[in-house]
Amino acid sequence: MQRNRRKPAGLSRSRTLRICGDTTPVKCQLGVNSCMPQFGIAVAVMNPIKPETQVADEGTTRMSRDTLSITDNRTGKSYEVPIKNDTIHATDLRQIKVQADDFGMMSYDPAFNNTALCQSKITYIDGDKGILRYRGYSIEELAEKSTYLETAYLILRGELPTRSQLEEWTYNVTHHTFIHESVKKFLDGFHYDAHPMGMMISAIAALSTFYPEAKDIFNKESRMKQTYRLVGKMPTLAAFSYRHSLGMPFAYPDNELSYTGNFLNMLFKTSELKYRPNPTLERALDILFILHADHEQNCSANAMRCVGSSHVDPFSATAAATAALYGPLHGGANEEVLRMLLEIGSLANVPAFIQRVKAGETKLMGFGHRVYKNYDPRARIIKHVADGVFEIMGRNPLLNIALECERIALEDDYFVSRKLYPNVDFYTGLIYQSMGFPVTMFPVLFAIPRTSGWIAQWEEMLLDPEQKIARPRQVYMGYDLRPYKSLEQRS
Ligand code: ACO
Repeated sequence: MQRNRRKPAGLSRSRTLRICGDTTPVKCQLGVNSCMPQFGIAVAVMNPIKPETQVADEGTTRMSRDTLSITDNRTGKSYEVPIKNDTIHATDLRQIKVQADDFGMMSYDPAFNNTALCQSKITYIDGDKGILRYRGYSIEELAEKSTYLETAYLILRGELPTRSQLEEWTYNVTHHTFIHESVKKFLDGFHYDAHPMGMMISAIAALSTFYPEAKDIFNKESRMKQTYRLVGKMPTLAAFSYRHSLGMPFAYPDNELSYTGNFLNMLFKTSELKYRPNPTLERALDILFILHADHEQNCSANAMRCVGSSHVDPFSATAAATAALYGPLHGGANEEVLRMLLEIGSLANVPAFIQRVKAGETKLMGFGHRVYKNYDPRARIIKHVADGVFEIMGRNPLLNIALECERIALEDDYFVSRKLYPNVDFYTGLIYQSMGFPVTMFPVLFAIPRTSGWIAQWEEMLLDPEQKIARPRQVYMGYDLRPYKSLEQRS
């Protein structure tokens, strides 16, 4: 495409766009910088809709209307593009050209900082105010009054279940918790110190080979069946991965227990005939699962949508989403927080560690978020959950170090000016550790509840007529065509 190589028409003109919204004109440099003002207007990159735009003369007096006027200073041409839901359609920019055979303008947005990928009805976040809602219900109320399975139903189906719907949903999830014996053989093949997330990613992908009918993604019944399987089997795969790393025999699901109660059973059951989970720990884990169930277009949800957009089966797409979650900048952060707190070691070392963070030598893991520029509402709830767990299991000695990091960071200009607050991962690790989980299990404990969110995002993407296979553009900065060099010609 080599768009960057084309010489601008009219050399006297500056390579800028003049963008006028309702009132303020914004001048943007053309080139590889994003030219969208932060959270004024986002660029939507869904499927092309036929642009309903008009070319307007520069300087025309405009009435207030839902459009954006753009003047291309390379050509002096002006364009008017529709604004809908505070976004302009990225494909509306394509009409902006210097020459008729140009590809047309694109927006440049590495890491999707200001690009809406889809329209969604699942999760609402106001990052500045610290608000999180699933399907319109506040996270605080759901954490207080709901269970994970009710919340998962809400996220997947759009409404809280009635009593009979909940019974049916619980029955179906519970009756899909067993895994094929051959999957066990798979897990057995891993080395004793294999990271459980690596085992999970592989085992989830392997499930697709056991359920080839899952490829029938536009069949509602099939999607529902795979949903039961995925939500039901994730705790089993997670628990079996854990037991494998200990060299302990697998503990099979107990259908009489709750979702989290059964998970604790498969993790920690030893010789007792019937495992009885501690109700406080069972509820604490359930709340943590509610808090992690969905988080709109995060890295792993985007992986789920992107991979799913190729129409692969949901097991393969979920394996991809789990892989995305594994990274230390995403769901792997809770593991990194624990390692960081262990490295700090004592209260006395906290100021020196914070200095290293400010000097850019390391990060304060569990702090900062792409969307939240305020306290992550989940972190607030988690602090309360931690109190309940510590009452039973004893106070985690790393808690004081974490609290001191938070105290210093919330007063320090480095963190305040960058709006870096504790995110969901800052305190979860402490709870998980107190409950007896090794650090390598932390991201797994994130992946289990996030599965319902991933499936909801995947299904919404599949049923959205505007969506197609996800395929971004690039700005090519490499060589023009050049002649091949033989081995002798290469120095
Ligand atoms: N410690 C120190 N500085 C930080 C941190 C941090 N944890 N997070 C961001 N910053 C700084 C950056 O260095 C940057 O500074 P600069 O402007 O001087 O260059 C500024 O704050 C903005 O940060 P970005 O990296 O641009 O923010 P972005 O939105 O791209 O990244 C992220 C968000 C990845 C979460 C980042 O804050 C981070 O790495 N945090 C630590 C890892 C973590 O806790 N991840 C879990 C996120 S929650 C989740 O996924 C479930």
